[in-house]
Amino acid sequence: MLRSRIVGTGSYLPERVLTNKDLELTLDTSDEWIVSRTGIRQRHIAGDGEFTSDLATVAARRALEMAELEPTDIDLILVATVTGDFSWPATACLVQSQLGAHGAFAFDLSAACSGFVYGLATADSYLRSGNARRILVIGAEIFSRIVDWTDRTTCILFGDGAGAVVLEAHEGDRGILSSHLHTDGSQWGLLFQLGSGSRNPSCGQEGKNCLPHIHMQGNEVFKVAVRAMCEAAEEALIANAVDVGQLAYLIPHQANRRILEATAKRLGLPPDKLVMNVDRVGNTSGASIPLALDELNRCGGLSPNDLVLFDAFGGGFAWGSVLLRW
Ligand code: UT7
Repeated sequence: MLRSRIVGTGSYLPERVLTNKDLELTLDTSDEWIVSRTGIRQRHIAGDGEFTSDLATVAARRALEMAELEPTDIDLILVATVTGDFSWPATACLVQSQLGAHGAFAFDLSAACSGFVYGLATADSYLRSGNARRILVIGAEIFSRIVDWTDRTTCILFGDGAGAVVLEAHEGDRGILSSHLHTDGSQWGLLFQLGSGSRNPSCGQEGKNCLPHIHMQGNEVFKVAVRAMCEAAEEALIANAVDVGQLAYLIPHQANRRILEATAKRLGLPPDKLVMNVDRVGNTSGASIPLALDELNRCGGLSPNDLVLFDAFGGGFAWGSVLLRW
C-alpha cells in the first residue's frame, strides 16, 4: 500500500528570546501568573529583517538536508500559515523561490493552529493519488507581528518559529495511517484576527485599534479545545484499532500546558508520552507541531514503527488528528 512517510524534519527559531520577566517590564502581568496558567516561560521573536518566508525556508532546508534531497526533487510546497509575508502571493511562492525548488508548485493553507495537521492530510492525498512524489509541508508563523503587545490576555501566549517535514510516497506499512479533520465555522468569532482582510471590522471606527490584532475569548476556547482534541485523538485510535497504550508519542499543538495535560489525562496517556515544548517556545500556531517533532527527532527520540499521533485545535474552529507509523 502506498503511504506518505516523513523522510526529513527541520525547524528554525529566531534568535531573540522574550522571557516572562521581560514582559513584566511592560505589562501588568507576572512570570508566576503566566507559568501557572499556560506553562509558558519564554518565546522567540523574529528580528526586524526576518519574515515568515525566511523562517520557513531555513526549516525547509534543514528538512531537505536530513532527507538527503535537493530542492528540485520537490513536487509541491505547502506552507501552513496565517501570518504570511503578504495576503498574496502565497508565502509558499516566496519559499519556492528562496529554495530554488523550480519544479514545485506551491500554495498556502490557512487553518490557524491546525494548519500543520491540515497540511499533512492534504499532502497525503496528493501523494497517495500519485499526483506528487515528494512534498514539503511547512508550518511557519510570526505571531509577534499581529499580537497587540498591550493586551496581556493574548500577547503572553504567542511566539515565532517554523517547522518542516519532507513527505515521500513509499510502499509499505510505515507512514500516515489516517487523518481526521473537522471544522465548526459557527464559532469563528471566539478566535480571529481583527483589522485585516476584506471585512476589516475594526478600522474606520473612532478610538478602535486599526492594526491587525488577535481577538480571543480564551476561556471559551480552552473548554472546546480539550474536548475537540480528545475526540479527534480517539477517532484516530478507533479507526486504526490502536489502544492509547500503543502510542509512542502524542505530539499536540502547543497551545497551553493545561490544555495539553488535560487532553492527555482524559485520553489515559502516560505523561512521558506527551511531547511538550510550549514552555520554551510558546504557542507558535501552525509551526508548533513540526517544531516539536523536529526537536524529538533530532535528539533521537523516534524509532522505526513508533506510532505517533498529531492532534491540533485552533481558530475557525478547525481541529483534527493524523496518526503516523514512523
Ligand atoms: O491555539 C489555540 C489558541 N488559543 C488558546 O490556546 C487559548 C486558550 N485559553 C487559554 O490558554 C486561557 O484561557 C488563557 C491562558 C488565555 C487565560 O487563562 P484563564 O485561566 O482562562 O484566565 P481568564 O481569562 O479567565 O482570566 C482570569 C484573570 C482575569 O482577571 P479578573 O477578571 O479575574 O480580575 C484576567 O484579567 O486573569 C487576568 N489575566 C491576567 N493576569 C495577569 C489575564 N491575562 C493575564 C496576564 N497576567 N497575562
